[in-house]
Amino acid sequence: MHSRVPAAVLLALTLTACGESETQEPQPSQETGVLPTEALAEAPVPFQLTAEQASGKVVYETMCWSCHGFAGRGDGPAVRAGAVAPPRDFTAGALSRASVRQLQADFQAEVGALDPGHPHMANVLSIVDIEAFSAALAYLPALTYPPELPGSAIAGRRNYLLRCQSCHGAAGQGDGPGAEVLDLAPANFVQDTLLAARNFQAAFDKIQSGGGGVHGSAMPAWGVMFEDGDVWDLVAYISTFQPGILSAPPLDGR
Ligand code: HEC
Ligand code: HEC
Repeated sequence: MHSRVPAAVLLALTLTACGESETQEPQPSQETGVLPTEALAEAPVPFQLTAEQASGKVVYETMCWSCHGFAGRGDGPAVRAGAVAPPRDFTAGALSRASVRQLQADFQAEVGALDPGHPHMANVLSIVDIEAFSAALAYLPALTYPPELPGSAIAGRRNYLLRCQSCHGAAGQGDGPGAEVLDLAPANFVQDTLLAARNFQAAFDKIQSGGGGVHGSAMPAWGVMFEDGDVWDLVAYISTFQPGILSAPPLDGR
């Protein structure tokens, strides 16, 4: 029973495999000169996922993100298009602090009852089987980690690799390829004092307004390009370079 691979996972894997065989030589991104797909494949996930969370990630990114959003903020494309009422923000409030077991207990029960006041669950359950749904629930605390910040480190990692590693380095040590041409060295997040002091708001402000008006540095003002939520995702991700300042990742037992 437990070893059965959920149908949605198989579907997603098949789609990925087909996509890859048709893909042409990847082209370097014009903005950074870095090959995003290569960089994404090489860089480690900010923390280890359990096997159930890893399969839940595939289910989430196949079946749930269109409404719940890439970072779980309830702002997926179906919501933005006005086709679905906005679901609750998984990165904020009690849901962001809920454990894997708690989420599974709460929402499996709901699924069992198929509450007519909650038709969404019945619809989702007509598409994914209960094991796949359960795996997606197990993934939610990983997606919204760290619970103390209104951002998702997993979502932030993607923008970091595309937009920040060119200067700050894939491992956050301030040694990306672009660092060589700068007078002022990019911050080393492994030792960064703002993060060490858990001054997350200052890190947010710095990313949003950049160095131009503040320090006169090469650090761009990302607030022009990113929504506040994306900036919190980036704060969440760079904080994982100093794991000691964050609560433990949501592995088994949490
Ligand atoms: C078609 C859009 C849509 C899809 C797809 C979708 N959801 Fe939802 N979800 C919603 C909406 C809207 C709500 C809030 C209203 C409701 O509860 O019916 C919700 C609520 C929830 C809740 C309850 C949160 C709370 O506020 O109590 C959970 C948990 C959840 N969804 C998980 C999932 C998972 C896991 C998937 C993928 C397997 C998924 N959803 C797919 C739209 C969607
Ligand atoms: C063009 C190079 C460049 C890029 C790209 C870049 N940065 Fe920076 N960043 C810098 C430099 C240089 C500094 C140090 C000087 C300063 O603080 O202004 C810095 C400083 C910072 C700081 C402040 C740390 C502290 O202790 O004050 C944060 C936070 C930061 N960057 C986050 C990011 C994030 C997140 C991204 C991607 C969205 C990013 N940076 C992209 C060059 C860059």
